[in-house]
Amino acid sequence: MTHITIPTTPFDGQRPGTSGLRKKVSVFQQPHYLENFVQALFDVLPETAGLTLVLGGDGRYYNRVAIQTILRMAAAKGYARVLVGQGGILSTPAVSAVIRRHGASGGIVLSASHNPGGPDGDFGIKYNVGNGGPAPEKLTDAVFERSKVLTNISTVDTADISLETEGSQLLAGMEVVVIDPVADYAAVMRELFDFEAIRRLFAGGFRLRFDAMCAVGGPYAQALLEGELGAPAGTVVNGTPLEDFGGLHPDPNPVNAQDLIAHLLAEDAPDMGAASDGDADRNMIVGRKFVVSPSDSLAVIAAHATLVPGYRGGIAGVARSMPTSTAVDRVAKAQNIPCFETPTGWKFFGNLMDAGRVTLCGEESYGTGSSHVREKDGLWAVLFWLNLIAATGKSVEALVRGLWADYGRCVYSRHDYEGIATAQADALMRELRASLPSLAGRAIEGLPIAFADDFSYTDPVDGSVSHKQGVRVVMEDGSRVVFRLSGTGTEGATLRVYLERHEPDIARHDIPAQEALQPLIALAETVAQIRAFTGMDRPSVTT
Ligand code: G1P
Ligand code: ZN
Repeated sequence: MTHITIPTTPFDGQRPGTSGLRKKVSVFQQPHYLENFVQALFDVLPETAGLTLVLGGDGRYYNRVAIQTILRMAAAKGYARVLVGQGGILSTPAVSAVIRRHGASGGIVLSASHNPGGPDGDFGIKYNVGNGGPAPEKLTDAVFERSKVLTNISTVDTADISLETEGSQLLAGMEVVVIDPVADYAAVMRELFDFEAIRRLFAGGFRLRFDAMCAVGGPYAQALLEGELGAPAGTVVNGTPLEDFGGLHPDPNPVNAQDLIAHLLAEDAPDMGAASDGDADRNMIVGRKFVVSPSDSLAVIAAHATLVPGYRGGIAGVARSMPTSTAVDRVAKAQNIPCFETPTGWKFFGNLMDAGRVTLCGEESYGTGSSHVREKDGLWAVLFWLNLIAATGKSVEALVRGLWADYGRCVYSRHDYEGIATAQADALMRELRASLPSLAGRAIEGLPIAFADDFSYTDPVDGSVSHKQGVRVVMEDGSRVVFRLSGTGTEGATLRVYLERHEPDIARHDIPAQEALQPLIALAETVAQIRAFTGMDRPSVTT
């Protein structure tokens, strides 16, 4: 075993975003690019002697190469043990579960989430800390600073090791334990849900179509749904993780998961459809001929949480990202529990969960989760819905309509303008921000504006403040438009426009969202001049 030091030039300043470092595969393939990030991370982490690291990814192209590189560097760093998923596979929620159940010091997740994969697609890396959640900003900032100055990479001179069979082996004195990627995650799910009731549901003929989009959710869904819960073979489709996701865009929304939507709209539609994304932390729930908005999904889960064994004792509180609809706020108010409004991104939920202030959380971007791990969790959400259906005997549609009947409908839509030139997107946001002071008190497109601001968040646990988290224009009746630029893309800029209006009148709940939101859509155009700045006369994706 030989430790070797490879001289390298400092990184050219790749600041990891909220979801880690996400770039084109070709960028990661540059000499020492991945190594530079990993070395910077290892340099800023405390002494790791005797500690355990978790390592796995969503199986996309470059996963296997990256895992071998990281294993060698972990050995040089002095880790006692690395737990790596068989074949290099671990979904993002599974990494979180494994870190927590094994008391690991942290874990490295290799994924670019829902971004396309393959040699021309994206790759990504992020570090999760001991609570199982994404590294806090002070750590990612330190990694960034370190990456700009480091001049050496420490590794060991060993051959690749096999990750195909479970068990322990030594790599330059470090133990590498190849683990079943599903086992720990499945154990957590068994503790939370009434598997017996879900088994009876399937035995009674309930039909689910789970589209794993050729991504890492497949093995988890197969093991639990078809394996343990008795769903018929074929319930999980696109269940084998492929390096390029079979050319699919593994981002479950009605646009990318068109095939699933088509099945749920068909005459012989199954009772429920579901999909998860590249790294299996996102979820989409679809009823028979009925698409569920993620914000409503979170609210339904919160409204009925105590029907599920793991939440029988009640929930401490809920949290949602600012652009997510206020449906869950209404449920929380009725249950007299706190509801926190955080900036976009999962990391803000972790502090609230660690402090015991929140049990459930979610985002409009098809992310839902709970304090069982510190990541959003796609299959968990699907199991939650199955458990609710089993416990109530109600359909997906009936559960959502019940929510609307009890709390009114938060009519909701997100419009994405993708691939805008960064300068144009920045200019749009700059002008919009500059116009904010003049908006309050005015009526635009017939809508009286109550206030307009740029969302700031003070973390109630550690007091840290995050500024400029999205521009919101809020009407007197509470309806609103939110504008922000995506922080996860790898090409150009994406403008996201979020639209929400509360409709208490049950007779109006079936008006299509785009129609019901028309005045807000017009207002968004007027205040932000979207057409002029983007050159686009309609969004590229509407969800
Ligand atoms: C997107 C979503 C956001 C989510 C993030 C990571 O970020 O909008 O809710 O937390 O992906 O999955 P964005 O591209 O908007 O910055
Ligand atoms: Zn994801």
